[in-house]
Amino acid sequence: MVTINGLISDTQLTESSILAIVELAFKLKAQKKAGKGRPLLAGKNIALLFEKTSTRTRAAFTVAANDLGAHPEYLGQSDIQFGKKESLEDTAKVLGRMFDGIEYRGSNHAVVEGLAKHAGVPVWNGLTDKWHPTQMFADLLTMKEHFGYLKGLTVCFVGDGRNNVANSLTIGCLKVGINVMILAPKKLQPDVELTELAQQCAKKSGASYFITEEQSALNTVDVVYTDVWVSMGEESLYEERITLLHKYQVNQTLMDKTGKNSIFLHCLPAFHDLETTVAQKIQRQYGLSELEVSDEVFRSEASLVYDQAENRLHTIKAIMVASYYTI
Ligand code: CP
Repeated sequence: MVTINGLISDTQLTESSILAIVELAFKLKAQKKAGKGRPLLAGKNIALLFEKTSTRTRAAFTVAANDLGAHPEYLGQSDIQFGKKESLEDTAKVLGRMFDGIEYRGSNHAVVEGLAKHAGVPVWNGLTDKWHPTQMFADLLTMKEHFGYLKGLTVCFVGDGRNNVANSLTIGCLKVGINVMILAPKKLQPDVELTELAQQCAKKSGASYFITEEQSALNTVDVVYTDVWVSMGEESLYEERITLLHKYQVNQTLMDKTGKNSIFLHCLPAFHDLETTVAQKIQRQYGLSELEVSDEVFRSEASLVYDQAENRLHTIKAIMVASYYTI
């Protein structure tokens, strides 16, 4: 029997709560495909507080709320007084009097913690600099759908091993017994705090946690995962990151090192071609037409990135349901 009080970070989750939410997402996905979704959150109003841009997280929370019979209301950075004329505490208390749940995306993790402390309603972290826990659930559902099991798989995160996606993936996977490898240059490897937490989670579940600079370690890997080399708000770091990470691009040569039918995951958006203005600017400045993943791998059969993106919807729906019901 599992219930959660919103979702702030992976640290609050237990193995059983993670597995129950993934299982519920599996069922909710099947129900939606069969046209049998139920309005489990009918009458609830959900605030979607975004201080950063988003495609998947915003779309997933919006559609999930609508599918569940709730009403989502988007509150963008320039729409409300928060942070300019009104404090975190006052904003949280006011929104909590009107809304039944609050999603927050922004930089500072302390903000989502503050919202949770003062709002009195479930608060969901839609990404902060430290954690991206709703993404982790979509990642696990995608692995479960593909392999049929989770415990015993090995996931390798390649790239900036200290970012929010890597943090949530690491802790979520280790808690359910998935082995985690971080393949990253020394400068971009997880900090002591995250490493110690990961080691504790690994010890508890019996999974392994391994940080390396060596691609030879890939031969045990079932899932190759990467993310952008420069996160939102770090745009001045492109040159440094390209220098550090160009050898860590997930291309077919790297995928072949797994020596088996491994899959490729990416939280998206991805720099795999020149179809965006940012990618074109990078190409003009640095002469690169692909960054963290090659277009070949991105479009390959091994790539499950669109299943993974769709699974944001089903898993966020499960997270919302688990915040109001015992599942
Ligand atoms: N993966 C992810 O969080 O996507 P968005 O930034 O589009 O929400």
